[in-house]
Amino acid sequence: MKYIFLCFISLFLCSCTSLPKKRLDKLSILQGATSSKEVEFSILAPQEKNLEFEIRSAEGLIIKPEEIKIISRPDSPWRIHKLLFLRDQLIDFNLYVFENGKVIDQRLIGKGQLKQDHLNIALLSCINDGFEKNFKIWDALALKNPEYVLMLGDNVYANRDENGLPLSPTPENIWGRYVDTRLRVPFFFQQKLIPVHATWDDNDYGPKDAGEDFEFKNESREIFEAFYAQSLSDEIFTKGHGVGGQLGLGDFNLYFLDARSFRTKYKEGKHIGIDQHQWLVKLLKDERQPSLILKGDQFFGGYHDYDSYQGNHPNDFNLFVSDLKQIGTPVVFFSGDRHLSEIMQFPRSLFGLPSFEITSSPMHARVFNDSPVENPWRVVHTHGKMNFTLIKNVAQDNHWFMDVQNIGEDGQILFRRDLAVFIKDLQNNLNEVRKRRSGKRRYRRLRNKRR
Ligand SMILES: [Fe+2]
Repeated sequence: MKYIFLCFISLFLCSCTSLPKKRLDKLSILQGATSSKEVEFSILAPQEKNLEFEIRSAEGLIIKPEEIKIISRPDSPWRIHKLLFLRDQLIDFNLYVFENGKVIDQRLIGKGQLKQDHLNIALLSCINDGFEKNFKIWDALALKNPEYVLMLGDNVYANRDENGLPLSPTPENIWGRYVDTRLRVPFFFQQKLIPVHATWDDNDYGPKDAGEDFEFKNESREIFEAFYAQSLSDEIFTKGHGVGGQLGLGDFNLYFLDARSFRTKYKEGKHIGIDQHQWLVKLLKDERQPSLILKGDQFFGGYHDYDSYQGNHPNDFNLFVSDLKQIGTPVVFFSGDRHLSEIMQFPRSLFGLPSFEITSSPMHARVFNDSPVENPWRVVHTHGKMNFTLIKNVAQDNHWFMDVQNIGEDGQILFRRDLAVFIKDLQNNLNEVRKRRSGKRRYRRLRNKRR
């Protein structure tokens, strides 16, 4: 008995000492919403630090923040500084952080999307902060230089402690685990920032497989909104339901769904809630341009036992698919969660257009053997490896082209496919959307001036 106890203690100590270090030499900085005019940040810093911020160009242009918001908790020594700057996207800017007049951090700001009809994104999910040996995957990501990083959930493992043991997801613990992840993952310390947009899945929302009845869902949403940087700027990101929203990037619309806050426990119930469902359908009707619909767990997954829209809420899923088919706006689905990556292709009969689901997981977390049950829609997949997925989207003539590359932790290509969706009258639709968008922007600028 004594021997077993000693073994247990030494195992526990081993796992403690092997935890990745928390970096305190620089600040943990996340760049979020990034448009041609605006750029937003979330900066994690110790409570006691008295910080000031500005952005500077090489030509000596100095810009102070348009808006600053500080979020803290009485039970944490850390706080978040949310910043919004107005700047011209075409000029190179650095973000400077000062403490008592001295520069303590400096980063190159990512520019975001540069061409209206091209969009270069990286999809990733499942970021377990205990997997230090796989942290080099962030160097592989930086080398690929995407315009945006889309984090699709399980971006923080908030329901487990640092040793992977179960942790009660109280607001205090969720905040603490967000802090741990932000202090460990190298992405937040890289010299060149890449804008991030995110949604969540169960592990960063609350308990495993949690849904609408999670008692701290509002507190959890406030923590998510504090740590990401997609709440101050309304130039390109429009808030939807829960943590979701619509991101308009040139010729592409990205719909981030919150598939946790409104999910019912029972199979006959709803997966994303009635209001969010209607919000999505209305926007897809109004804006008939290439549309990326993103959430944490898979859309199509009725054949396996893990979470998916189709598997967990089959009736609601059939309604979702039939609504999309009636609208006829071209959609491609993006998801994470599965600890494997794959492309699925659906026949034209399903949506009236060819369509795909692209799943990307894990960035670094446990990997498993492939499921014994075959996915009827699968085109290609990766399992048993850390990975992320790069997608170059192009809206050209009447096609939405996607160059999809799945990348491993050494930067190697694990699979690559060219996908295309034919869209009747695409260029006419886009001209309409551009006209409407520039009207919206003018209105926003006027409203901001009046504030
Ligand atoms: Fe995960």
